[in-house]
Amino acid sequence: SSLEMFVDKLPKLPKLYGYKIQNAKPVPGSLTVGMYAKKWKFHRDLPPSTVFAYGTSAATATVPGPTIEAINGVPTTVTWLNFLPESHILPWDPTIPTAIPKHGGVPTVVHLHGGVHPPEYDGSALAWFTANFQEKGTFWNHTTYTYPNVQHAGNLWYHDHALGLTRINLLAGLIGAYVIRDPALDAKLNLPSGLKFDQHLFVFDRSFNKDGSLYMNYTGNNPIIHPQWQPEYFGDAMVVNGKAWPYLNVQRRKYRFRIINAANARYFRFSLTNGLSFTMVGSDTSYLPHPVTTDSILMAPSEIFDVIIDFSATNAKESVLENNAPYPYPSGTHVNSMNKVVMKFIIARGKPNPPDTSSIPLVLKAYPPAIPPKGAVKRYIVMYEYQAAGGPTHMYINGKRLEDPATETPKSGTTEAWEVINLTGEDHPLHLHLASFQAIKVREIVDLSTFTACMTKKNDSLKCNVNDHAKGKLVNVPEYERTWKHTVKIAPGHQTTIVVKFNLIDNDAPYPFDPTIEPGYVYHCHVSCVVNLMTLYISCRELISCYSVQILDHEDNAMIRPLKLLPA
Ligand code: C2O
Ligand code: CU
Repeated sequence: SSLEMFVDKLPKLPKLYGYKIQNAKPVPGSLTVGMYAKKWKFHRDLPPSTVFAYGTSAATATVPGPTIEAINGVPTTVTWLNFLPESHILPWDPTIPTAIPKHGGVPTVVHLHGGVHPPEYDGSALAWFTANFQEKGTFWNHTTYTYPNVQHAGNLWYHDHALGLTRINLLAGLIGAYVIRDPALDAKLNLPSGLKFDQHLFVFDRSFNKDGSLYMNYTGNNPIIHPQWQPEYFGDAMVVNGKAWPYLNVQRRKYRFRIINAANARYFRFSLTNGLSFTMVGSDTSYLPHPVTTDSILMAPSEIFDVIIDFSATNAKESVLENNAPYPYPSGTHVNSMNKVVMKFIIARGKPNPPDTSSIPLVLKAYPPAIPPKGAVKRYIVMYEYQAAGGPTHMYINGKRLEDPATETPKSGTTEAWEVINLTGEDHPLHLHLASFQAIKVREIVDLSTFTACMTKKNDSLKCNVNDHAKGKLVNVPEYERTWKHTVKIAPGHQTTIVVKFNLIDNDAPYPFDPTIEPGYVYHCHVSCVVNLMTLYISCRELISCYSVQILDHEDNAMIRPLKLLPA
């Protein structure tokens, strides 16, 4: 049976300031953030659940963790400490590449998702550590990370990235928001601001046992090979800022919400009841060139949308945030009465107090356009799912695992064009560490089964005549995604052309890095797909210096590949 909706107030996430003010100017700041096991109430009528939470103490730790506030150009230093117990609250599957400490404890490592920073502070899946740094992964090198915040203003998040454990560490609660602000630009734009009118909505799905504990299916889809691994985790309850189906009292005015999809595998297609719409101002780490108004937004795991909702545009007393995305997306089950509803806004009568002086300017911010330069390196990246008797066994990128040597070796400070081909049945959110990128073209693959059969045998896009296949219908890239992002949806049966800028910062200069530092980068799928960490598979789980698919359950089972950045 389901819990009653709209009985808990939407929590406001605590904030930590990653800078200090000296003589009215921001200067570098340092923070210490711990990971704690504690009890968390997800709903009024649910007994407290044991979670893993980020915070400055066990008492103040929250799910999601505190929002870290940073300022463009002002470095933030964070010491991440693990205070987690001997054993995990969720099951591990030792049949996928996993950090397994010899002496117990929960391996963790924090990744700043969307950040452009030195690889040694990236939170490589192999740089994990247990409580008191008792045991460490092979690439562990620092207790303290420095984030230079040299990229432009935008929305990032931090989350755990331990090898093979990403999906369960996130399910347990190790997630938090990170914002880089540009005070001069913010003043000029005059969007809704301040603690009340500029808030985060951290959305994810969870299921619970009667005793309040987090529910996770312990039986793998192909139990002969993987006793526990399931290619996707889906929960029934829709949780926002740590409460199931909460409500928020709002004034009849404009609000800015930074919406983060922190689900392992669920896509959300959001809409608002009573005629309200979303005015999108940013997508992931960047502003949009100009505001885009839309009635519905589709969000893959790990995407962040920065939206304005104007509650004065209705006379109604309330508006419900709804979801109608099937799961898995797009071919799966239709939403039920529980996951169709996300939260409710209760709109006060009368004029706002103080009056709403914010505005939505016609022009937001222009960045260099996404056009691959002449002679740009072109790469083909293919996502596969492997099936065997009993069900899926693993998901790889280019038929390779994280442990396989890097095949993507871009030069520092360059821009490349990647053709990303999705041969699985579902959409996958692709994420590249330490880069920003955007989709410029999405084209249907014709004669998909012939191409897939060839690829399964030869694993070579050119030998399989990719150009004869990637010439079907063109699909529109939504206007609200046309900016520099950290996560991009890759549609099944399509080839998506992305333009990737490697370690380029705000002024389009390359961020200096030490190419001898291991691990480098990764890319992966951000779904509880499988993420294998060190190779160039596009798996979804853990990455090093790689790119990955942001379905965590995929990343953990090897939809992750290493990326080796070379000196310019
Ligand atoms: Cu959201 Cu490899 O990270
Ligand atoms: Cu995936």
